[in-house]
Amino acid sequence: MSEIKQLETQILAAIKASDDLADLESIRVSALGKKGSVSALMKGLGQLPPQERKSFGQQVNGVKQALNQALGDKKTALADIALAARLASESADVTLSVRTGPMAEGRIHPISQVMDEINEIFADMGFDIAEGPDIEDDFHNFTALNIPAEHPARQEQDTFYFPKRADGSSLVLRTHTSPVQIRTMLSRKPPIRIIAPGRVYRIDSDQTHTPMFHQVEGLVIDEETHMGHLKWVLEEFLKAFFEVDNVQMRFRANHFPFTEPSMEVDVRYKRVGNEVRIGEGDEWMEILGCGMVHPNVLKAVGYDPDQLQGFAFGVGIDRLAMLKYGAPDLREFFAGDMRWLKHYGFGVLDVPTLAGGLGS
Ligand code: PHE
Repeated sequence: MSEIKQLETQILAAIKASDDLADLESIRVSALGKKGSVSALMKGLGQLPPQERKSFGQQVNGVKQALNQALGDKKTALADIALAARLASESADVTLSVRTGPMAEGRIHPISQVMDEINEIFADMGFDIAEGPDIEDDFHNFTALNIPAEHPARQEQDTFYFPKRADGSSLVLRTHTSPVQIRTMLSRKPPIRIIAPGRVYRIDSDQTHTPMFHQVEGLVIDEETHMGHLKWVLEEFLKAFFEVDNVQMRFRANHFPFTEPSMEVDVRYKRVGNEVRIGEGDEWMEILGCGMVHPNVLKAVGYDPDQLQGFAFGVGIDRLAMLKYGAPDLREFFAGDMRWLKHYGFGVLDVPTLAGGLGS
């Protein structure tokens, strides 16, 4: 076999054996590159007798063509293999069961769920949702709500005060959601129908009290509002929330500075094992405070108490969540324990609706 043929056979074999593109490129360079073995053959052309040059040149060109062809084919083949491998590794088996991801792992906290339920119920009755800041000033948290300076609720054992400011006043962590009543009346025109869910703070901690807890405030202001409306709204709310047809309420006279008359509302219930059944039995549980908005509160926001009246109520959301979902210790709600949350929490897509069942 001629030297040329031998070289060709050798290089073709190397091309055939090559299995990656970088390797193939180095074969090409070492054969056809400027200093490559095939190019070197052409350099010897000048030393040949003239009659042999033509056929030698043709042979070398033939080898070059053959090698280029082989290199091209191999390159295409390797690219096809790489593509096939990538497709195989990226393929999705649609028959596999769905892997649990964050959507399935995550949980909605019972407090958030109960807030959503409450919002849903009141939205259905035509209430808007109002908000106010957690850090309040004295005017909104106390003064405008007819809580005089010497009222016990202002004393330091209940209220978290911020350090005194230059003018001698201190901001507070709001002790209830009632300041949102004031903010709403100052920023909207009656008629008003709002609820205001949110965090509140008091210096208090035991099995049923945490320094931060949640309330939902309700406020209705109109020209002819009376206690019958208040009673109806509360009854509808409790029936929808506890998903029962009958709720029995007991209104007990009480005192809040910002309502007159003021009442606390108890509901009839029965305990069966760990479960609390609302509307049955012969025990009573206090669940909210309410009353007709005090004329001094209406005056504080520039309303004429002879023209406008209304009612307000404040409900402890955490208490409702404990009752409805049977979690015994309030402190657990805020302990951040994943095991607790997995047990008491709700699926991400369990959005409460009146039609679909609230706690589903
Ligand atoms: N703000 C009262 C509390 O925190 C509850 C309440 C609100 C009572 C509205 C009457 C009317 O205890």
